Amino acid sequence: MTFDVQQARSHFSALKSGFIFADNAGGSQCAKDVADKVYDYLLNTNVQLGADYSVSVLSTTKVTVEAPKVAAKLFNCSPDEIIFGPSSSANMENLARSLDASIEAGDEFILTGEHEANNGPFKKLAARTGAVVKFWRPTPTNPSNPYSVALKTDELLPLITSKTRIIAFTACSNILGSIVPVKEVVEAARKAAKKEGADKVQFSVDCVAYAPHRLIDVKDWDIDYCVFSFYKVYGPHTSALYVRQHTLDKLSSIVHHFLKVDTKAHKLQPGGPGYELVYGTTGVVPYLESLTPEGTLKATFAAIAEHEQTLVEPLLKFLTAPAQVERGVRVVGREEAGLTRVPTISFVVVGQKPLKSKAVVDFFDKKGGIGIRYGHFYAYGLIDNLEPKIDPEDAVIRISLVHYNTVEEVTAIIETLKEALS
Ligand SMILES: Cc1ncc(COP(=O)(O)O)c(C=O)c1O
Repeated sequence: MTFDVQQARSHFSALKSGFIFADNAGGSQCAKDVADKVYDYLLNTNVQLGADYSVSVLSTTKVTVEAPKVAAKLFNCSPDEIIFGPSSSANMENLARSLDASIEAGDEFILTGEHEANNGPFKKLAARTGAVVKFWRPTPTNPSNPYSVALKTDELLPLITSKTRIIAFTACSNILGSIVPVKEVVEAARKAAKKEGADKVQFSVDCVAYAPHRLIDVKDWDIDYCVFSFYKVYGPHTSALYVRQHTLDKLSSIVHHFLKVDTKAHKLQPGGPGYELVYGTTGVVPYLESLTPEGTLKATFAAIAEHEQTLVEPLLKFLTAPAQVERGVRVVGREEAGLTRVPTISFVVVGQKPLKSKAVVDFFDKKGGIGIRYGHFYAYGLIDNLEPKIDPEDAVIRISLVHYNTVEEVTAIIETLKEALS
């Protein structure tokens, strides 16, 4: 697999400063190809959509034809199944609102209690309709580290009953960094649901922390809803939501009553999305496709996965070395590297000489040159359910890398970690 990290880096102006961006799960840098599109839109076609004069016709094409076509490539779906919104949180809240009329008291939702974006809207939907919420929680994978948690399919299946309507989980947690085998989970859950006589189960998969690292395939996964945020995938602050066409047809519209959008994705876009940002997203796929000679998303994501292992391995090796374990370092998430692990790595420092996560990050900030962060990262339910308890406000130290990070940067991060932990 050919992957030239320096060529990838050349698309990001901010990387030239030498600052080490290691908070990418919070938001990645934006590729120049994307910024160029935003600039082009604002300076040349910044008019209201839907009019018949030539410039409006051009903007309408950019935003409602070109952008959904590109987003559809990232989901492997039809452009008609794409909804743009300001954020994944807003997209999910809008989706849940449109489900109000189809949920009955006693229906059951199974949530994982990870990032609130794919949890809160369903919890509020349950409160509005009398549905019941159950949790499929991540559990330890290494008996000697209680924080080495991951979702396990076997622990989901017993929660499924004849009343199950929605199963919502992440394809990759923004804290744990391990990839959930979505296709396998959905297949097993559908089988269990059929056995229970549940014939209306829908799957909602949060791909926000997955999309920068692996290729989504909603058709292969056989899911109903999927969301990610372009600002984590080298693009602007906007989000795309996939809704399966036959599901979309049945959802209630949440836009102004006089708009005729009954079967269209627009029915989930109240007020419309930010035009220049939506058009800006069309720069993401060409950037990704430029990363490998094959010029395909499949080849690019395979190369990304391989390169990212060179970042995951030294970090996990350092954090799980006997000296660090003795020091009190505990990885939060799976401890093993491998293709089911992305370079989003969280940990805490407990034991005889515990350290606040804030103190470790403060050390980095004082030293300068590397951006990492601490906290619950809005996966409050996940952090709050870890045992032994950790303070959810202080939560974890997170180092989150992507394909444009280098092995040399990881070495620098490890050197600073050594000082911070000493
Ligand atoms: C896993 C995950 N889901 C959802 C979100 C929310 O995305 P947005 O900020 O676009 O609402 C985030 C943001 O950090 C995330 O990491």
